[in-house]
Amino acid sequence: NTGRFTFDPGFTSTAACESKITYIDGDVGTLLYRGYAIDELAEKSNFLEVAHLLLNGNLPTASEYQAFSNNITRHTMIHEQLAQFYRGFRRDAHPMAIMCGIVGAMAAFYHDSTDIHDPHQRMVASHRLIAKMPTLAAMAYKYSIGQPFVYPDNSLSFAGNFLNMTFSVPAEKYIIDPVVEDAMEKLLILQADHEQNASTSTVRLAGSSGANPFACISAGIACLWGPAHGGANEAALDMLREIGRPERIPEYIARAKNKDDPFRLMGFGHRVYKNYDPRAKVMAKVAKNILDKLNIDDPIFDVARELERIALSDPYFIDKKLYPNVDFYSGVVMSAIGFPTSMFTVLFAISRTVGWIAQWTEMMEDPEQKIGRPRQLYTGPTERDYVPLAARG
Ligand code: SDX
Repeated sequence: NTGRFTFDPGFTSTAACESKITYIDGDVGTLLYRGYAIDELAEKSNFLEVAHLLLNGNLPTASEYQAFSNNITRHTMIHEQLAQFYRGFRRDAHPMAIMCGIVGAMAAFYHDSTDIHDPHQRMVASHRLIAKMPTLAAMAYKYSIGQPFVYPDNSLSFAGNFLNMTFSVPAEKYIIDPVVEDAMEKLLILQADHEQNASTSTVRLAGSSGANPFACISAGIACLWGPAHGGANEAALDMLREIGRPERIPEYIARAKNKDDPFRLMGFGHRVYKNYDPRAKVMAKVAKNILDKLNIDDPIFDVARELERIALSDPYFIDKKLYPNVDFYSGVVMSAIGFPTSMFTVLFAISRTVGWIAQWTEMMEDPEQKIGRPRQLYTGPTERDYVPLAARG
């Protein structure tokens, strides 16, 4: 008797989560938001329109779009006392550490939108979270560099408002370059939802216990932070900077293939995509476009392109079906816009808040939903008697 329980053939893994929101075919590299292809949305839509699509199931009419964007816009400011929280953090705190705390703390302020059984309160909480994430994120950045917070300007687009709160200073107006604003919109669209990824599953699991939406999104932010997930965009750019020159790429490819080396190519591989991540294809074009239009000569982009070329012709990566994912080029875009790597996953969180909220709402509207309870296969010792300390030798 190995002490292992016999495997109960009746044991079945937790049934897959049902959802109408996002479809991925990892073998062919397809990603649809409510049936619309990600590359078409990135090309033709804007983030608030995609947010409406993910939340409500359809592209909005003109009046629906106006009403939705007004609803989001009127929630961009935060309670002044919430701003006091920032002064409790060290200046060198990672912005994701601040976001975990400050978003959870929203539950201590917005008591009129924490009743998860009230559809109206769920909608208000959703609009508050989508609207306030850019404000809170920009404040985390400003705090880290010792600059004053900049209030939202509701005359600007969602992306433009975030850029202005992040980069403008009282002494100098920030001119929103349309090339930068367009790149920001595409970044937000491409990362908005992605089916049942780790952070979305975290939000769903937290929500299944009846936790309030602010706590659930804070849990999602914590999970997204991990370098195997959303934190990969920061790690990928750090990796590209460490490689520095194309001639150093073979050394890193060799390390990625060495089973005894924990190093992995950041921004490569995926739990679902066994083909090219369609978001990475669009992100590569956005990166080239912004670098060309802003005349930025960033050697990192050349390193990324050469790394991709070498890896995709290497039998190891071909056999294991490892391709660039959304995080491989996104850092080049965010760096070109002017963000430090510490803000990369925060931007991912701003975008993914829409997907988290859409998935959470879908679950909360399901009358059959129960608390999540992942099953386990027990492989520990069978039952045994207690041995007094004196008799343990
Ligand atoms: C995101 O789930 C989502 O949808 C996530 C996301 C979203 O939008 O929410 O798409 C966002 O998180 C994208 C992934 C970002 N993470 C990274 O770029 C980190 C680097 N990638 C790896 O850590 C890895 O690819 C994972 C974590 C993404 C997936 O890991 P798995 O599940 O182990 O991948 P796998 O089963 O396909 O691996 C197959 C083999 C394994 O080797 P063997 O065990 O077969 O010997 O390929 C190896 C892996 O060790 N491998 C890599 C590798 N990724 C997998 N080897 C080198 N470099 C890599 N990046």
